[in-house]
Amino acid sequence: MANSIETELYTAKASAPSNIAIVKYWGKKGIQEPVNPSVSFSLSKALSHTSITYTRGLDGLTIDFLFEGKTKASFLPKLNTFTDRIADYLPFLKTGHLKIESSNTFPHSSGIASSASSMAALAKALIEIQMQLRPGEPNLNKEQLISNLARLGSGSACRSVYSGWALWGTNDNYKESSNNHAISINKQVHANFMNLQDSILVIRKGAKAVSSTVGHQLMDNHPYREGRIKQANKNTNDLLKALNEGDFDAFASICEEEALSLHGLMMSSSPAYTLLAPESLRAIKRIKKFRDHHHIPMTFTIDAGPNIHIIYPATHKKVIVPFINEHLVPLCENGEVIFDQIMTE
Ligand code: PMV
Repeated sequence: MANSIETELYTAKASAPSNIAIVKYWGKKGIQEPVNPSVSFSLSKALSHTSITYTRGLDGLTIDFLFEGKTKASFLPKLNTFTDRIADYLPFLKTGHLKIESSNTFPHSSGIASSASSMAALAKALIEIQMQLRPGEPNLNKEQLISNLARLGSGSACRSVYSGWALWGTNDNYKESSNNHAISINKQVHANFMNLQDSILVIRKGAKAVSSTVGHQLMDNHPYREGRIKQANKNTNDLLKALNEGDFDAFASICEEEALSLHGLMMSSSPAYTLLAPESLRAIKRIKKFRDHHHIPMTFTIDAGPNIHIIYPATHKKVIVPFINEHLVPLCENGEVIFDQIMTE
């Protein structure tokens, strides 16, 4: 006896890493297209795991969302917008019921972008369902399609589809680059940059005072908008060159300029706001002093929050980890530091 359409169940599981941007995406146009290119690497320990169960149905789409085992209705508006946006690519999302269960391997509100890893994992799982429903459909570039869908959930998520280094946004030197999806640039990256460490100083836990959605919007009429677009394009070119040549000093100077420019843009938005804490500035001073004194490759970046990501090659772990433990842990909330590194496979 044939099953009724409502009892047809499809399941899929997927995981994706978070990523840290060196050239920052800040400001959008159209539907989740960036105003400037960005470059990031994926993190090996900061993962989202997502399982979905899709039940076929006839009218509209309903969604249940569970985060770490508990229903989280506050996430539903974001998921509804996301599924509406991608229903033209994945028509099964127009009807039926979707149960999404997600969990992270990293602490909440720790300065690691959970929207990037969770949206990338969800996009991967949804594509798996689509492939079960339409197995014969040609899928020439599955990763780019997943990246495109992930972007429509959260911009930076499109870079989390790849391990290692990713570029999102058009760049003349990379023909495949696009505003619609990220591409992997690992083949053009020197081995020196394939073992980077990212030690995250959790200066403050807790939700951000201003969301990145609002931050992006404030770039629309920002007095430095054109200057920022020019700067980010130049920094992208210079960073791609530094990554290719294995030049850590050039890398460090772009990394810090980008981090501080991002916060400079926030401080000069209307309304203006500050996300750095006094301890963030103290940490930056201590990092620079230690680096200059010992002549070691070590730099930092900062996302839209107060937490500091210290970036350095694995070869210098022995000198840098004790420095972090002694001089930077006291600046962190509850002494929390997350020792992560680039994901390479
Ligand atoms: O992807 P969103 O909308 O959360 O924006 C991320 C913005 C930054 O993290 C500050 C920079 C970036 O490129 O990841």
